[in-house]
Amino acid sequence: MVRPLAQRLRVPAASPFGENISPPKEEGPPNPMTATPAQVHLLDHPLVQHKLTLMRRKDASTNSFRRLLNELAMLMTYEVTRDMALQDIEIETPLETMTAKVIDGKKLVFVSILRAGTGILDGMLSVVPGARVGHIGLYRDPQTLKPVQYYFKMPSEIEERDVIVVDPMLATGNSAIAAVEKVKALGPKSVKFLCLLTCPEGIAAMQKAHPDVPIYTAAIDRQLNDHGYILPGLGDAGDRIFGTK
Ligand code: URA
Repeated sequence: MVRPLAQRLRVPAASPFGENISPPKEEGPPNPMTATPAQVHLLDHPLVQHKLTLMRRKDASTNSFRRLLNELAMLMTYEVTRDMALQDIEIETPLETMTAKVIDGKKLVFVSILRAGTGILDGMLSVVPGARVGHIGLYRDPQTLKPVQYYFKMPSEIEERDVIVVDPMLATGNSAIAAVEKVKALGPKSVKFLCLLTCPEGIAAMQKAHPDVPIYTAAIDRQLNDHGYILPGLGDAGDRIFGTK
């Protein structure tokens, strides 16, 4: 089971990075690599960490990058859905009647932020094949640098569903924040955010805008560079998934 980082490190709620981000109780200055966002779930399973390392390598081919992302998405879906509600139903086994558990409520919704989010969907859907899928397309206006929506398609009855918004990289947080805002406007039961990689800046921005949205990630890297890329990171996730560079 993956507990929130803050819980695992037993940290207070105040933060140098944002409202819900707190340093661990350690002597000396806070270390951004071990900062402890209250709502951030760091998926530190050895398989997740191993596969992420293979993806980061610049010599990973498009084929292996995509395959690893697929495998990672499956493992991460397992954790992000850990708290799904269950209900009891009565079934017949070949031997007798029993009360057994199934997932309660309407089907989950995975919302992909185009285009890189799409690279995570296959893996997620192989673990939760009945999930509904929404898409949000956003581009950055070169003048205002604000995200502008060019595509938005969501499943029906979203107010009765739990939503997981996905994008491999939570970097500046601009697209993720805008996407979560659009999803929240439809009134879903809950919203989570799942990414592969993030950084202190992305977490702080997301938590300032949406402190109620938990973030699930495989790593919190050192920082953003001047072009909005995560360091050390893995480069442009979209280009690496689709082989467009
Ligand atoms: N988007 C990417 O694809 N990579 C980054 O490092 C940041 C944003």
